[in-house]
Order: sequence, then structure tokens, then C-alpha cells
Amino acid sequence: MIYDILEKKKNGLELTSDEIKYVVDNYTNNSIPDYQMSALLMAICINGMTDNEIFSLTKHMTDSGNKMDLSMFEKTVDKHSTGGVGDKTTLIVGPIVACLGCKVAKMSGRALGYTGGTVDKLESIDGFKVKLSQEDFISQINNINIALISQTENIAPADKKIYALRDVTATVESIPLIASSIMSKKIASGAKNLVIDVKVGSGAFMKNKESATLLADKMVKIGNNSGINTVAVLTNMDIPLGNNIGNALEVQEALKVLNNEGPNDLKEVCIVLAAIMNAITNSISYNESVKQVMHVLETGQAYNKFLELVKLQGGNIESIYKEPLYKYEVMADNEGYIASMNAESIGKVSGSLGAGRMTKEDEIDYTAGIVLRRKTGDYVNKGDVLATLYSSKINNFEEISKKFSESIGFSSEKPDYKLILGVVGKI
Ligand code: URA
Repeated sequence: MIYDILEKKKNGLELTSDEIKYVVDNYTNNSIPDYQMSALLMAICINGMTDNEIFSLTKHMTDSGNKMDLSMFEKTVDKHSTGGVGDKTTLIVGPIVACLGCKVAKMSGRALGYTGGTVDKLESIDGFKVKLSQEDFISQINNINIALISQTENIAPADKKIYALRDVTATVESIPLIASSIMSKKIASGAKNLVIDVKVGSGAFMKNKESATLLADKMVKIGNNSGINTVAVLTNMDIPLGNNIGNALEVQEALKVLNNEGPNDLKEVCIVLAAIMNAITNSISYNESVKQVMHVLETGQAYNKFLELVKLQGGNIESIYKEPLYKYEVMADNEGYIASMNAESIGKVSGSLGAGRMTKEDEIDYTAGIVLRRKTGDYVNKGDVLATLYSSKINNFEEISKKFSESIGFSSEKPDYKLILGVVGKI
């Protein structure tokens, strides 16, 4: 059977739902070996998948594990980001929409490669429990409308196994495979409304708007086909989002935005994401939704909601201000406008300061990271401070500082860039 399925996909023919189920079930229970699954994944990468194939793959990966039952709540909303550098939006938009009556039952991931992960950011808060029993998870959502935890074990196990194989067979970068991988986990997470932040640019999986739009379109179709009201927003990841990169540093910055302060780029993206989440969940217009979002920011309600969440999950918020042992200022050796900042290499710099993991076993230095003092569009003179690097593990910054400087491009002309590049789906 698997041999015939491989032949069919190699020849560009459409697989049936039963054939896809056969593959997913038998790969997950180890009956199909890695070499045959790798061949199929490569054929999918090359020949693509029809919408029906994508829907079937998503469904069978979702069905391979448990589904979170949120049917006791009427207004559930989830949010997903395809991953970026400095992306702490979940910490901000979750509390905002929770203040507006949305139920946020959020399961998040850890850092992947050069991109950060919400769970690691939360664990930079001393005592914060990212694992709750199902009972406590539901009860907290009932009480304060929000709980943020790590993904439970048995969510889409087929995707977990297939993703690990894709990672070592050069088959990650396939729109049907990425779309079904993300959506199988989102569908299993149980929310009825979903906003996906599709990052576009140097620090994202999707390097250009065309491929990001294709991915967004597939995910919105899968979501809607599964009865989840889904909207995707394309946002700029050519530049890190906000000024702080690194776990505790990002929580500090999230608190600033929740307190209705800057930085403006992070605030703008959060307002758009939160407004769409609120609009589709509470069935109100986008403009009305923006007003409500601004109100909970301006009145301190969203800020207090975050503190309440941290306290209920056992965290001590003061601990995020722990001083790193070492710091280093990177000076500009050029003058002119900053024309580009390679978000991927800046993410890697942050990782090598200790903010990420090189291997799964590595321990994160929660104090490590970067504070950007200047960003794309700013004019700098030679000797101006571009960024401050922090670490409690590394005190020889020469090499790392050089890598940071190499990720900045200068120009004599002020560059222009947009933060929100498009919306796919109905608001
Ligand atoms: N994130 C996922 O969860 N899956 C992919 O395939 C890519 C990014």
C-alpha cells in the first residue's frame, strides 16, 4: 500500500483521505519506516498538495491525539505566530482580549532555532508554572478568562513525529506541510476563533509576501473548513519586533506595552492582532474593537490582567528585573540611516548570548539578550550606541558584537517600511 501511495504522489496524482489516513496512522505507530515517509514528504515538497489533500492531512494529524475540550465556553479565541525575533505579542494580546470577555486557552511552544518561544519567556518569571492540570487550566479560564501553558503531551503526536523527520530531510519548507502542521495543533487546541500572525521577512520562515500570502490562504481555508473562524495577518519580520530580544527582557517590554507605553512598532502590531481577535470573537466591527482594545490599555486593565495571570500561575513578576552579570555596548562604526537589520542573524546573536538553546538539553540564561537602541529608519553617527548585549554566561563579547554589527545595513537615504502587510480572511 505505501509503495503505491509513493508512486501516486511521485506522479503528481491526488491522494485520497483514506490513503493519507493510512500514512499518518502507520507512520505514527512505527509501521511505516522513516525512509518511506521521507520519500513521501519529498514528493509532497516537490509536487505540492491539493486543498482536499491538505484538509485530509490536517484532519488525520489532529485525530492522532487528544483534543482540548473547550465546549463549556462560548467565546474562545486562540492566536498563533509563525515565529519571529522579539515577538512577545502573546503576552500582550492575551491579557487585552481576556479583559474584553474572550476566553484565551493558550498553549504555547518553546524557542525553535533562532526564534523565541512564549513558554521560555514565561519561565523567565521565577515560579511561573507552564504546566497546569486540565482541571486547573479550565478553572483559571473560567475565573480570569486566560491561562497560558505549554502544549500538552498528546496534541497532534503525528505532527510531532513527522516534523522531526522533516527537520532532518530538508522538507520543512513546504507550504502544505507547514499549513497542516500548524493547523492540526490549533484545531486540537479547541478554540472556535483563531488569528494567525504570519511573519514575513528576514527573520521569518516566509521570506517574501507572496509565499506568506499563500501560506496564510491555506491556513485560513483549513481553519474555516474545520469550523474555526480564522483570520491571518501578515506582519513584518524584516526587523525584530520591539527593542528587547531575550526572555526576561521581552517580558519587561511586554509590561511596558500593557502599561500603554511603547515601543510603537510592537504596540501597533499588538493592537491590530488584539482588535481582530476581539472583533471575530465578539462579532463586532474592527473599528469598534480597536476602541475597546485602546480602552483596556489606557485604563490599566490589560496590565492588571497580566499581573493577575502571573500570580495565579505562581510567578513572581519582580524576578524579571534580575540584573545580568555582564553587558556590552555595540557602537556604530558607520554613519547614515539604518536601512536593514537582519532579524535572523540578530536572533542568532541573542541565542549565542545564552537566550536560546543550541541543543535541546541546553539551559537558557533568562537574563541574556539584546536591547536595540536604534532601529531601521534611525539616523546614526559613528560611535553611537546601536545596542546593548546582556549575558550572565558570556563575558567575552568581541566576536558576538562583530556578528551583531554585520547584521546592520546602512544607507544615505531614509528607508520606508510597513508593519502590517496584509490580512487574509473575513473580519
Ligand atoms: N511551525 C510548525 O508548527 N510547523 C511547521 O511545519 C513550521 C512551523
